[in-house]
Amino acid sequence: KSVAIIGVPSDYGQTRRGVDMGPSAIRYAGVIERLEALGYTVKDEGDIRVEKTPIKKEQNEKLLNLDEVVEVCSKLAQKVEDAVNEEYIPLVLGGDHSIAIGTLAGLKKYKNLGVIWFDAHADINTPESTPSGNIHGMPLAVSLGLGHERLTSIHHDGPKVKAENIIIIGARSVDEGERELIKEKNIKVYTMHEVDRLGMTAVMEDALRYLQERGVDGVHLSLDLDGLDPLYTPGVGTPVAGGITYRESHLAMEMLQEANVLTSVEFVEVNPILDEKNKTANVAVALIGSLFGETLV
Ligand code: ARG
Ligand code: MN
Ligand code: MN
Ligand code: MN
Repeated sequence: KSVAIIGVPSDYGQTRRGVDMGPSAIRYAGVIERLEALGYTVKDEGDIRVEKTPIKKEQNEKLLNLDEVVEVCSKLAQKVEDAVNEEYIPLVLGGDHSIAIGTLAGLKKYKNLGVIWFDAHADINTPESTPSGNIHGMPLAVSLGLGHERLTSIHHDGPKVKAENIIIIGARSVDEGERELIKEKNIKVYTMHEVDRLGMTAVMEDALRYLQERGVDGVHLSLDLDGLDPLYTPGVGTPVAGGITYRESHLAMEMLQEANVLTSVEFVEVNPILDEKNKTANVAVALIGSLFGETLV
């Protein structure tokens, strides 16, 4: 029962500054105390060193801030790999979602990793399909081995995860090219339509059964705070209305805890500049509490 916290103060995967302060905001919301109260040994690895260079916002560029993202993700991958080897559960705090490229690269011990992608977006764009050039919209594609070679070769060559082991939950803003790739690769997606229609209980039961049937040897949760409705998590760079509620997201975390399958976790896209009195980081910490075993009584 040991958790290694790795902060990744990077905002280079998108163009709104401030998401680099996410790790601080989540720490100040009390993540370590919360985990320790549950009986975990927590090792805070601190933040990865990220250079502060001006952010690029040019239009028509297909991979904004590529050098910076490659550098951050390479460092992060090594940190995650070390934590796994030392038998810690890595808890990565972002930073924008481009950092998942590094996290997934670092999880190479798992040869048949399951990935739960809790997000309003599919984050499966390629340089060809991206509408923005923002790499935070590309981490799932990169992890499948699609995209710029400097991204797909981070830490080690080849795909980091199999398409059939990915589950996306909460999607409601999916670009045309992403839709095609999801179909082509037959990726399991529970959009908000399925969440509405089936309810979160059935969605999670189904998702967990699906991963079990695939015989995964580990499960990574990548949770983008914009998966929730912006009513609950306003401090995100790309909010989309009509999201997962506070209670539904807690239920999802509680069911993951009950299933006892998680081997690594990341929480991303908390932007304190866009937030209201650290509300989004507080929600992140409350969800982490449920995920790691807090109960109501
Ligand atoms: N699909 C859009 C894009 O590729 C938005 C991506 C938002 N991603 C995120 N991690 N918040 O630009
Ligand atoms: Mn270490
Ligand atoms: Mn998102
Ligand atoms: Mn995302």
